[in-house]
Amino acid sequence: MRHFLRDDDITPAEQTAILDLADAFRNDRFHRRPLDGPRSVAVLFDKPSTRTRVSFAVGIAELGGNAVVLDAGATQRGRGEPVADTARVLDRMTDAIVWRTFAQSDLDDMAAVASVPVVNALSDDFHPCQLLADLQVVRQHKGRLAGLTLAYVGDGANNMAHSHLLAGATAGLNVRIGCPESLSPRADVVAAAERIADATDGSVLVTDDIAKAVSGADVVATDTWVSMGQEVERRGESEGRAGRRARQDSDEQSERIQTLRPYAITKETMRLAASDAIVLHDLPAYRGYEIDADVLDGTQSVIWDEAENRLHAQKALLTWLLAEGERG
Ligand code: CP
Ligand code: NVA
Repeated sequence: MRHFLRDDDITPAEQTAILDLADAFRNDRFHRRPLDGPRSVAVLFDKPSTRTRVSFAVGIAELGGNAVVLDAGATQRGRGEPVADTARVLDRMTDAIVWRTFAQSDLDDMAAVASVPVVNALSDDFHPCQLLADLQVVRQHKGRLAGLTLAYVGDGANNMAHSHLLAGATAGLNVRIGCPESLSPRADVVAAAERIADATDGSVLVTDDIAKAVSGADVVATDTWVSMGQEVERRGESEGRAGRRARQDSDEQSERIQTLRPYAITKETMRLAASDAIVLHDLPAYRGYEIDADVLDGTQSVIWDEAENRLHAQKALLTWLLAEGERG
């Protein structure tokens, strides 16, 4: 029985197998129904989500199963029930547990107790499901992965930067992270990515020079500068667009935003990349901050294919994890 808590929980060959299966699901959404029965999957959210929530709910239904989607506030865990107790109950009723939360250690605790696969649907440290979709979209538009150069610029210390390092190295990419020194990736994650890259003929570079990161890159990626849980000003967060604006305005003043300004993806940044480079963003995007609207909405952007691939990649992942469990 296998879990998927971070991108390096799977080998290069396993990553390729999952991506191949994801392509098969993209070509024929209903070609396999491993959750027929229906078997159930618990999908838990301690943070907001649009893409992850919908893609898991729809994907589990398309696999023939039943998604039990729960927000933390609606469960006893939200009132302090221990993770391990929750895991012991969920694993008697479901065939997999998908969880978006804060601390990676909570996912580890869940996995230590659960007898069904646990999937990280985003933590503070990693977003491995997103990276499966990202690698799938790169293959879709570039026809291959190994040997390509991917530049991720912006917040180098967040979940997306860490997942780009591990998943990209696993795929044999040359991964370059362009970020301010104060927002560099964790040293242990860089070291893990370097070890993987040694075996896959990929490479890893972390630099505070955005030009060095993006120069000649085949893929240019970024992510929000303010991740969930990092908001300086939470006022109005539940008030939709106006609330988001208020948050952005207050963030605007923050040192963090000022530090990150030089790492925005603009038309000028894109001139440094390969002329046929593609642009990725996991979304939600903040136009005018980490990426300019004319790039995000421009011809090099593949963000809607990337978002769609969440569905295909996660169906492939669940199918693969369930099959591994049966082999097991
Ligand atoms: N990219 C991503 O995980 O989006 P959501 O936060 O909307 O799920
Ligand atoms: N780094 C972002 C990713 C959102 C999908 C966050 O954690 O909020």
